Amino acid sequence: MQIKGIRGFKDILPGEVEKWQLVESEARRIFGLFGFSEFRIPLLERTELFARSIGEATDIVGKEMYTFLDRDGDSLTLRPEATASIVRAYLEHGLNQKNPVGKYYFVGPMFRYERPQKGRYRQFHQIDAEVLGVQEAWADAEILVMLMRYLEALGIENLSLQINSLGCPQCRPPYKKEIQTFLQTRRNLLCEDCQRRLETNPLRIFDCKNEDCQAALTEAPEVLSFLCPECRNHFERVKTLLDDLRLSYAVNPRMVRGLDYYTRTAFEVVAGELGAQNAVSGGGRYDALAEEIGGPAVPGIGFAIGMERLIMLLPGKRSLARHPQIFLATLGDKARRRGFSLAQELRDNGIWAEVDYEEKSLKSQMRQADRMKTPLVLILGEEELKKNQVIIRNMATKVQEEIPLGEIIRIVENKSKQ
Ligand code: HAM
Repeated sequence: MQIKGIRGFKDILPGEVEKWQLVESEARRIFGLFGFSEFRIPLLERTELFARSIGEATDIVGKEMYTFLDRDGDSLTLRPEATASIVRAYLEHGLNQKNPVGKYYFVGPMFRYERPQKGRYRQFHQIDAEVLGVQEAWADAEILVMLMRYLEALGIENLSLQINSLGCPQCRPPYKKEIQTFLQTRRNLLCEDCQRRLETNPLRIFDCKNEDCQAALTEAPEVLSFLCPECRNHFERVKTLLDDLRLSYAVNPRMVRGLDYYTRTAFEVVAGELGAQNAVSGGGRYDALAEEIGGPAVPGIGFAIGMERLIMLLPGKRSLARHPQIFLATLGDKARRRGFSLAQELRDNGIWAEVDYEEKSLKSQMRQADRMKTPLVLILGEEELKKNQVIIRNMATKVQEEIPLGEIIRIVENKSKQ
């Protein structure tokens, strides 16, 4: 039986990969304007890192991680997200001592054992950005404007930026208790998962897709009315700065996010076009995460964009596939060998040249050039070789001319510019 790929793990083929290159290069360009440097983290971390930061009672840690024991019996996990690893690496290398403010971005695959569907995979990719070391609202506003400018630069429209504040270790526990008490009386309305969540992580119930669970929450108290004065001021300040930047947003007091490390600002960018999995990006502040993993107190805020969803939103169906600049069609062994070296000379001069490897007829070489969508074809036979000439054919106009072999590079360079 022919071996197939794994469910939820996608191949990214040539033709599609150009879109990935485009979104990556645009991220590097825009994030560079904001002073972010690239960070690279390992695929594997100690399971404990994610359990302690994302939270034992989250879906990610509870049921979605790819965890295994290695040969030494250590429990390791394929990273389900980047934030915990970046904070771990930042602390481990003492970057907090070298530079109090760290601005980093990361691009790469993540792994979560979720039920695959449109926009949801088991291996997916994120573009992630983090600001470490700034507690003030400047960082919140700046990372949000960077995220939205990036999405705009890609021509993505009809996005909604939703923000909320989830409070801090002082004001969130009383709110959690209040929700628990509120839902206790409506317990029988909740799905099985949410009945369990009611004990372990009641705020997660806001994220449940079950209509009955949502109905149970209709009159639930809102987190914003539980914020302590410091958290309230912080949130007000974030909103003021976003207004100064003329960035539109909607406050969504029911947005809770699926990871437990968030404090204060939390946000999501949603696109109706995406269907059920409508969040193209999510993020927020995590001022207690560094301490949760055993480090000093270092505030942080960041976001991650789901690249598969981002690419689904790119405008236009235009293919970004690249095409060779020239195809060398040759006839006869001598001409083939000359053509083969000529292709190399062209490449040495920065010209993408293709040749036939199968010693096909001239007709099928021309068909191949057509398939490859090359604008120019060089035709070289024994006759031309004797005269030190070559025929150059413009595939669009079908006009052919004979040119000296020695002039090829200059002529192809000129024609490629036209
Ligand atoms: P997250 O909300 O879990 O946040 O993921 C961020 C984005 O990754 C989502 O909005 C979605 O676009 C994409 N995503 C998540 N799971 C999948 C999946 N199974 N298939 C396809 N796309 C998916 C985080 O990961 C946080 N680390 C974000 C953050 C950074 N917070 C602070 N800094």
